Amino acid sequence: MRQIDGYTKTCGLIGNPVEHTMSPVIHNTLAEKEGRNLVYVPFYVGRGHIKAAIEGAYALNIYGLNVTVPYKSEVIEHLAEIDEMAEKIGAVNTLVRTQKGYKGYNTDMMGLYRAMCSEGIRLEGEDIILLGAGGAARAVAFMCVLRGVKKVYVLNRTLDKAKQMASEVNRILETDCVKPMRIEDYGKLPGGKKYLAIQATSVGLYPNIEDAVIEDRAFYEMLHTGFDLIYKPAKTKFMSLVKAAGGQAFHGLKMLLYQGIIAYELWNAISVKEEDALIVYEKMKAAMGIEES
Ligand code: ATR
Repeated sequence: MRQIDGYTKTCGLIGNPVEHTMSPVIHNTLAEKEGRNLVYVPFYVGRGHIKAAIEGAYALNIYGLNVTVPYKSEVIEHLAEIDEMAEKIGAVNTLVRTQKGYKGYNTDMMGLYRAMCSEGIRLEGEDIILLGAGGAARAVAFMCVLRGVKKVYVLNRTLDKAKQMASEVNRILETDCVKPMRIEDYGKLPGGKKYLAIQATSVGLYPNIEDAVIEDRAFYEMLHTGFDLIYKPAKTKFMSLVKAAGGQAFHGLKMLLYQGIIAYELWNAISVKEEDALIVYEKMKAAMGIEES
């Protein structure tokens, strides 16, 4: 058990709800491992209280914060500064204390990129299929373009939402590489090559574990890799369909791991060793009852 004393630095998570968060496992494990006098606690923030929460946290000398649903965009107007990628994405999940107030970052997308790199997945120069056009997919589209993908085909049930998201990303990043499509039109994608697909819809999320946004095997035969942002369940129907068609499949738990690792690195101005990140990952899996190696 760690000692809490007058020197203890406090970090935390603000959101609503916060009860099911894995972030305390990430940060408290890292602090314990490093012998750092830091604790991480969840803070429930009720609707309409985000401004007071940020000001109060700053006044209380809170060292760093994560921000979760529903405040990732709303928090931006209360920051002193914002990282360029987070500003473009329009969503912030990590606040770093500065002289003037908090600076916002989007370590969700930095974490997704690091998770992909750690699995040997390349983005630079690739053509990507992005399933979904909601908030999560929008952030992924920004990240993919900023990391140098050649094309992002946004496949969504509601074509208008895909069109709106694609035109927004294209406009802000001054590109035309994001292409909206109806989800059932995957047969019209350029053939003769295999794609990386990123699954960013909410379909398949616990408890609806038998659902996948596309069921047709012909779609999965077009993929070399499927990356599902969902991590509960740890083996989604989408992942099973990717694997059944011969591709490699990943869930979103490493993205969650690395968004936390990067936040911890920003707060403490350090680099976390990969072996320590993997110790944290094992703890997260244990906390979720996941048994894979
Ligand atoms: P998030 O913030 O997690 O991205 P969201 O903004 O509500 O959540 O977006 C959910 C995404 O999942 C959308 O792309 C949605 O498609 P629509 O834009 O057509 O609504 C997609 N989605 C949710 N349920 C779906 C379903 N049953 N079939 C296909 N797509 C679905």
